Amino acid sequence: MIFETHAHYDDECFTEDQDALIKSMPEKGIGRIINVGSSIESTKTTLELAKKYDYVYAAVGVHPSDIDGLNEDTFAWLKEQTAWEKTVAIGEIGLDYYWDKEPEVQERQREWFRRQMELAREVNLPVIIHSRDAAEDTMRLMKEIHAQEIPGVIHCYSYSKEMAQEFIKMGYYIGVGGVVTFKNAKKLKETVEAIPLERILLETDCPYMAPEPHRGTRNDSSNIPYVIAKIAELKQVSEAEVERVTEQNARTLFRKVR
Ligand code: NI
Repeated sequence: MIFETHAHYDDECFTEDQDALIKSMPEKGIGRIINVGSSIESTKTTLELAKKYDYVYAAVGVHPSDIDGLNEDTFAWLKEQTAWEKTVAIGEIGLDYYWDKEPEVQERQREWFRRQMELAREVNLPVIIHSRDAAEDTMRLMKEIHAQEIPGVIHCYSYSKEMAQEFIKMGYYIGVGGVVTFKNAKKLKETVEAIPLERILLETDCPYMAPEPHRGTRNDSSNIPYVIAKIAELKQVSEAEVERVTEQNARTLFRKVR
């Protein structure tokens, strides 16, 4: 089966056909889906989806661009949600300097990234990290807090292959989605060639990042076979092998998934 490690089916562009779409996934070979929270509000809707569909699991967390919703009360609520059997990760958390350039905002991003990483350590869950235009600070902060003790994935990986090796040395997985099929995605293709298949997770980040030949349209997990085909080509292995190994990787990282 295909293990989809990063979806946002609670996004408003799925409102009209959300139920039919999610129900159609198993017959399209998508056996497990992690829906990922990115704010307090979307963590709530993520938990609802995981309650409704047995093959959908929840990641709870607040994205760097949504930290305005975090305070001691909401952070305590977030922690409570980690105890549920279908909460399998803390995410997505991290740093995004592409959208936020102000130093004090970036400082607050680092503070909440750090606290959510510490939460993951405390409750013994893996993390799903979003990092954009913030490679150095992400790595520095992860080293400071000994992130090698907190398993996780760098989702929608966008940095160099050298940096990927650094993350892998810390025990991290590399999330690969539709971007790998883009013509201009030289860096990501080099990264996929350079790292072991045993360190790659499949993801969509849907509704975003639809792979070729559907680039620019609403994405969903049924597009993952295009990503698998590209990875198989780059690694010179069969598509079945990519599907099998990445499922195993996801099950190793997200231990609470049945
Ligand atoms: Ni995402």
